[in-house]
Amino acid sequence: MESMTVQAPTASELDIVGTEAIRDPHGYFGRMREIAPVLWDTRSRSWIVTGYQEITAALRDDKHFSSDRIRPFIAKKLSGPDTDPKVKQAFEVLANWLVFNDKPKHLRLRMLINQAFMSKAMTRLTEKFEALFNDVITAAPAAGRIDIVADVSVPFSASVISEMLGVPREDRGLFAKWHRLFGPVVGASLDDANKYDSLAEGVSELSNYVRTLIERYRKDPEDNLLSELIKAQDDKDALSEDEIIATCTLVLFAGSETTANLIANAILALLRNPEQMSLIRSGGVKITDAVEEFLRFDGSGKAVTRVVREDTDALGVSMKAGQRVFLILAAANHDPSVFEDPDKLVLNRSWERKHIAFGYGLHSCMGLQLARLEAAIAIPGILGKWSHIELDGELEWHPQLLSRGLKALPVKVSA
Ligand code: HEM
Repeated sequence: MESMTVQAPTASELDIVGTEAIRDPHGYFGRMREIAPVLWDTRSRSWIVTGYQEITAALRDDKHFSSDRIRPFIAKKLSGPDTDPKVKQAFEVLANWLVFNDKPKHLRLRMLINQAFMSKAMTRLTEKFEALFNDVITAAPAAGRIDIVADVSVPFSASVISEMLGVPREDRGLFAKWHRLFGPVVGASLDDANKYDSLAEGVSELSNYVRTLIERYRKDPEDNLLSELIKAQDDKDALSEDEIIATCTLVLFAGSETTANLIANAILALLRNPEQMSLIRSGGVKITDAVEEFLRFDGSGKAVTRVVREDTDALGVSMKAGQRVFLILAAANHDPSVFEDPDKLVLNRSWERKHIAFGYGLHSCMGLQLARLEAAIAIPGILGKWSHIELDGELEWHPQLLSRGLKALPVKVSA
């Protein structure tokens, strides 16, 4: 029997990377969810899914929703004679990121990478992270005007991820540049005209750099994730050099700015909710519970992308094979049918951990414990260093659909 399909409403006025959506995604996508939890956006030519049930359904359903959006893009857009080979090469590195793969390749990569994540290099992290945070916070001034992003959250998360992977201290400054270069494509800045050239430059420099590190740790393995990735194998399989390079670039990308953004978003949320700041300062809430609420309230992963694999009405509207779907995690985490008073920051909510700030299902974040640990060290650490913190300047958000991060968080502090 043929299934029933309904025609989805269209919303021609939408601008999902417009000023309003970037400034207040919860309000913006919340209004969209009230119109319909699944909407076709004519401007981005994508489905926008804002309901919790629909998003989790899509993330469970890899039969209809594929994560593999890079290879079809290469085949469609980068196979002509006038394609810049550097741009194509950059997309080929991204095509090996496990987040852009379906099974069976995704399962194989995830299993091999997971071995490295479970290794002894990844134990005893609390101590290491506390020492790294201490270096960063000690270097920040005791009083005056600072930027929480540039002075604390970015240097801390960059040093954690670099230390974990095995990037030598003297090279850590390089990542900010590469991030800037390929962030706009991966974070889906829909309006950045030069983003493919930047991507090519960033990915190629970063890949060459990682290649030199692989050579070094192949000869002399150390206690770090890269040495473990080189070793990771099962009975008959191992990661190829291209897969190791892709995984390192993914981890550097997925693991640094996301966590830095979470920390800064959390501090902003506290500045806007002083009674919740007092609750943390007075020890009235467990920091691990508070971190879950920060992730739900204003997490740094705003959305994830899927591609419709075959025509389907699985989400209640008729979707066609090849169409792009944006699943707005931030909207799911403020869905009033799941969370009571969703737009309120309540650090000691009784938690069932239903939020999906780390995604959900097969592709859910592999670095979630690291990110939680970093946030649990940095947030009380920042409050501990400065007894007074106040906002001191305008806020500007990165104009990206997939990530939620401040360009700067200017504050006045005193000890
Ligand atoms: C607050 C910080 C973080 C947030 C909000 C976050 C969010 C996410 C989300 C939403 C996904 C799912 C993507 C999808 O379904 O398409 C994901 C996947 C992933 N994340 Fe994170 N992440 C964070 C930190 C980290 C860290 C620290 C690492 C590594 C050290 C990491 C490594 C990964 C990897 C490898 C995947 C791909 C998993 C797969 O495709 O199977 N993430 N992350």
